[in-house]
Amino acid sequence: MTYAAITGWGKAMPPAVLTNADLSNFLDTNDEWIVSRTGMKERRVSHVPSAEMAVIACKRALACAGLEADEIDLIVYGSCSNDEQVPNTASGVQVAIGATKAAAMDVNTACTSFLYSLSTATALIRTGVVKKALVIGVEWISPFMDWDNRNVAVLFGDGCAAVVVEASDQQVGVLGEQLGCLADARQTLRVRGMGTAYVNRGVTLGDTSWDFDGQEIFKRAVQGMVQASQAVMQKCGVTPDQIDLVVPHQANLRIIDAVVSRSGVPADRVMLTVERYGNMSAATVPVALAEALEEGRVKPGALILMPAFGAGLTVCAHLVRWGDRITPLRESDAAFPPNNKSALDLVQAVRARKAGAHDRSGEGMRAPKFVENL
Ligand code: UT7
Repeated sequence: MTYAAITGWGKAMPPAVLTNADLSNFLDTNDEWIVSRTGMKERRVSHVPSAEMAVIACKRALACAGLEADEIDLIVYGSCSNDEQVPNTASGVQVAIGATKAAAMDVNTACTSFLYSLSTATALIRTGVVKKALVIGVEWISPFMDWDNRNVAVLFGDGCAAVVVEASDQQVGVLGEQLGCLADARQTLRVRGMGTAYVNRGVTLGDTSWDFDGQEIFKRAVQGMVQASQAVMQKCGVTPDQIDLVVPHQANLRIIDAVVSRSGVPADRVMLTVERYGNMSAATVPVALAEALEEGRVKPGALILMPAFGAGLTVCAHLVRWGDRITPLRESDAAFPPNNKSALDLVQAVRARKAGAHDRSGEGMRAPKFVENL
């Protein structure tokens, strides 16, 4: 039987830090509200596009696994903020890292995109289609953010991480997963202005505004992640006390606390990054995984539970058995280009661009009828 071991990992976190105090420069919000409702203190804003973050993370993950780019058979790019639709962004990463023999695909399930990408790569390895894959979780949300809407602007950040997945005859990697979608609640999180449905209504692509029902998402996210976690543990014959580490999607500290306590896993076995990075959508789980490894929180043979949810509302939980190696084989010297702008400068530039781009008062930003009816 072939399994799909995770043998390399690398993160690429943009250097510019946006604090809660920065946000209160242009929003009616404050540190006390954000920390008490979400657990977030700061998040990152990228000065480079998604694919550039992904290239850095991939080079670091490849070095960690001791592989060259031309040994990779498949790149799966998990994201909902792709730099381009056509050609896909994975092909841009392929050419930039020199993975000349790799197939390349983009997967978009919003915040769960990394884990759905991991399922895709694992399935293609386990069925013998490919042997070595790069799986990316990346998000450059800041250009698409509704910066003047305090309901959403305080919650999200940019970031990226990638893992290498390789065929193995040891019982490691994803042991099982539960995937699902609570599509009856898909209207609770909608980014208007990011697709052809809006362009056809005369909206400039990228001139976004967000529909966001935080309380409903909160409830459904907790229910969905708890059910998915219980289902995957049952499928794999694992009890909560056997879980060594939970690496959850990091949308809100209160959501994580509720999911972990209801799943029955001891509260100290959770990897948290939400305070420093906010919700990086597809990047949250792989960045938290990479940091758990850096901090020595993943032991050889560890059993890791990864529950997540995202717009759709997609939900999932993955159970991963770690292999023997918990340290990188090599280091990469890949790095971000210099940045002389503060995170607040970067955000203000997006706000200014959007303010000049469109008059939001008209018909244009209403969802087309077929979207509303779905
Ligand atoms: O990956 C998927 C992404 N989605 C999510 O993660 C959403 C999950 N939902 C949540 O995390 C929470 O529901 C929120 C953090 C979004 C909100 O927390 P809450 O405890 O559900 O707050 P609330 O919706 O009950 O809002 C309470 C108040 C409201 O004022 P009023 O109507 O009571 O006067 C809001 O207008 O807080 C106000 N508010 C804010 N105040 C200061 C909303 N956003 C802010 C803000 N700063 N940023």
